Amino acid sequence: MKFFIDTANVDEIREAASLGILDGVTTNPTLLSREKGKGDFKDILKEICEIVKGPVSAEVVGQDADTMVEEARKLAAIDEHIVIKIPLIKEGLKAIGRLKAEGIRTNATLVFSANQALLAAKAGASFLSPFVGRLDDASHYGMDLIRQIVAIFDNYDFDTEIIVASVRNPLHVVEAALAGADVVTIPFKVIEQMIKHPLTDVGVKRFLDDWKKLGAKI
Ligand code: E4P
Repeated sequence: MKFFIDTANVDEIREAASLGILDGVTTNPTLLSREKGKGDFKDILKEICEIVKGPVSAEVVGQDADTMVEEARKLAAIDEHIVIKIPLIKEGLKAIGRLKAEGIRTNATLVFSANQALLAAKAGASFLSPFVGRLDDASHYGMDLIRQIVAIFDNYDFDTEIIVASVRNPLHVVEAALAGADVVTIPFKVIEQMIKHPLTDVGVKRFLDDWKKLGAKI
């Protein structure tokens, strides 16, 4: 299972990379807008690629296939690790096929149904991102969609990797792993929550206290 981090914040990415668990990054226009004032967005994406050296998703904002393809070419030129996020709309599907033909990898985003996932795979997306948290927010079990897509993909030989996106808490990560998703993209805060366990902290403290009593040095 691959872990991506869902942020455009270079400090968070550096910190997560130092943990040795990071395979890639997903950004989107909202996440990049949070970095306003920290330099040109292309420089930020380039820096992220240099830190992670894995797939780094950057999203187009054009609404027609021609504009999406044009924007995708510019984003892909930033670094070889850039993967183009394309919203799963009709024009987006057209763009995914055209970019595949050009050898540019895509991540079909804003996926909320199994049919959209099938279409993304058929069009040749390298990744697809179902948004579990936003489905939960709308009173649907987001993880049910992941289980459906994994089951469907198990029936065929699609190359498209499933990224569990819109992750809100550590349980989402566990459920994504149980469902057999290829990738989970996790906000920094949730990575920190995954590390923490109160019994680990209590245990570390007890060992340190007892070691002090021994009065020895390693
Ligand atoms: C995924 O690639 C998106 O960037 C992200 O997971 C969306 O999450 P949100 O629903 O918390 O905005």
